[in-house]
Amino acid sequence: MTQASKQQRDILVTSALPYANGPIHLGHLLEYIQTDIWTRYQKMRGHNCYYVCADDAHGTAIMLRAEREGITPEQLIARISEEHQQDFAGFHIRFDNYYSTHSEENQFFSEYIYRQLQENGHIATRNITQFFDPEKEMFLADRFIKGTCPKCKAEDQYGDNCEACGATYTPAELINPRSAVSGATPVEKQSEHYFFTLPDFQDFLSQWTRSGALQPQVANKLAEWLEAGLQEWDISRDAPYFGFEIPDAPGKYFYVWLDAPIGYLASFKNLCNREDINFEHFWKADSDAEVYHFIGKDIINFHALFWPSMLHDAGFRTPTAVWAHGFVTVNGKKMSKSRGTFIMARTYLDHLNPEYLRYYFAAKLTGGVDDMDLNLEDFAARVNSDLIGKVVNIASRSAGFITKRFDGKLGQVTETAKLKAFIDAGKDIEEYYEAREFGRAMRRIMELADIANQYVNDEQPWVIAKQEGQDDNLQAICTNAINMFRLLITYLAPVLPKMAEASEAFLNSRLDWNHRAELLEDHAISKFKALMNRVDMAQIEKMLDASKEELPAATGEQSGQSDNTDLDPIAGEIEFPDFAKVDLRVVKILKAEHVEGADKLLRLTLDVGHGERNVFAGIKSAYKPEDLEGRLTVMVANLKPRKMKFGMSEGMVLAAGPGGKEIFILSPDSGATPGMRVM
Ligand code: 2FM
Ligand code: ZN
Repeated sequence: MTQASKQQRDILVTSALPYANGPIHLGHLLEYIQTDIWTRYQKMRGHNCYYVCADDAHGTAIMLRAEREGITPEQLIARISEEHQQDFAGFHIRFDNYYSTHSEENQFFSEYIYRQLQENGHIATRNITQFFDPEKEMFLADRFIKGTCPKCKAEDQYGDNCEACGATYTPAELINPRSAVSGATPVEKQSEHYFFTLPDFQDFLSQWTRSGALQPQVANKLAEWLEAGLQEWDISRDAPYFGFEIPDAPGKYFYVWLDAPIGYLASFKNLCNREDINFEHFWKADSDAEVYHFIGKDIINFHALFWPSMLHDAGFRTPTAVWAHGFVTVNGKKMSKSRGTFIMARTYLDHLNPEYLRYYFAAKLTGGVDDMDLNLEDFAARVNSDLIGKVVNIASRSAGFITKRFDGKLGQVTETAKLKAFIDAGKDIEEYYEAREFGRAMRRIMELADIANQYVNDEQPWVIAKQEGQDDNLQAICTNAINMFRLLITYLAPVLPKMAEASEAFLNSRLDWNHRAELLEDHAISKFKALMNRVDMAQIEKMLDASKEELPAATGEQSGQSDNTDLDPIAGEIEFPDFAKVDLRVVKILKAEHVEGADKLLRLTLDVGHGERNVFAGIKSAYKPEDLEGRLTVMVANLKPRKMKFGMSEGMVLAAGPGGKEIFILSPDSGATPGMRVM
């Protein structure tokens, strides 16, 4: 029996755990939407399916960011978790549990698995030499070291590769290396590290990676890696580090990537405890439950090499499958802040309906690892033509007659053959959903929508409605059409959960995949209300403008979802003459006003001592204009005027803080007067 044909399946599903050091953006959302559609589909089919996730809360980046913000890492991860969960909820991502890797359960499983690996002889220790920041007294990962590229001599390059010429090297090769954390010159230092001896799992992995658990492209890639030979994996980091201390190894912590996937177990365990679910049944070595991990293609090594080996060695079952997807591009290019296409989940939600994106992603998703382009014109056109023009249209053209002429009551279906074809098409659609071929599923559904629209066009209920003695015919046409609509929306429900809910209210009946053959006849429906509005290019433009204004502290210019490379440490060291070039002045805020069409900006009129300046400041989330007027602050007075969408900005006001409500205008001590130089 294949998995899909089993009666009721036990299924555990995860998406990658997002780092707790930055906001959710569209690059992340592809995966959560993909996973959510798949799990909603399984639940609709009546399977016992759980979807768990968590924030990935450990590591140096999170530790340093908390330090910079003057809060504890625990406070930081609590705040970010709240933000992540709000963003996910905004896109209707329905987790059964959302947890944190900084949890008791995760510590328990991390220690347990580590001890098993150790007992089985798969942990080795040896000394390694690394750069060390003598001021911060911490070891520096490559990306915390900056210097001049040894090849092209470009300055201010990271410790492992040059953004100017693309060269890769070791930090030791950098010219004039310095710590990106403190600016100090790093020194080389030895320390003992713990390794997971992955080469011991060569045979196991050769077999597992060919067992059908991976997509063919991924299995082929892994075959190449396996052929090249595996390396031991460094799983320890020295204090200071935000994470779990390794048992019997004081001052040594588990590397964030060791306890991150274990977070899947921990989040599920937390759910099991709360809802009395049998954890063992899902995770014991010979379990017949199914476990699936949805991930981005950039983290395949962690999920298809380290993770199955760890699970196998520690006596757990291995995943049924690991499914990778590609990266998101916008308008054919990498997401970019300057083009406004680095779009945060929140910014999207401020302007557009989340179901547009869910549908667009679904319409373009395959079961493969290809990248996904979000072409914004195509996005608007596709949503408008498919969802509004095809699906909603069927209901909106038929419902009015039922309400006005038949007291809201449907009659009998007369197009039995057509409706049977709609019901039978569900079989194809089931296969497509199961195989994550959502694009195919959407195409099949839209073929049906075309048939339904053609039917309404041919029957012309608006003409029939004007003819005498045609009441039964009119009621039958509308009953047929509304039943077609009902089947379409049943098939779309995993993708469009809110529209499905609104349709249930309209149809006055539940959408039930498995009982879809039971048609609605002699049944009272509710008055039709618009189920979705058209996408307007102007809303998209506004979203892009708002994204340009937005410069979150912790987000790099990449399209994948791994943000851990962006650490925002203290910027590179500068010489005194560089500093001396900056003319900082005390200024008085004479006027502060809202800027029409800008979500983040306020327009400030500043008294600079010898005249007035107009400056736009991204502080609207933290200050009401009236609270700023009359206050003194500090500005960079000799910043080259910059033309912004809303006018010229003649300088920059200084503020501190992480963003949102926590932006603090820097005020000089009392006694200062406008125009005074700040030294
Ligand atoms: O790449 C990332 O964003 C990681 N935080 C994903 C972790 S997935 C799992 F292993 F926890
Ligand atoms: Zn270079």
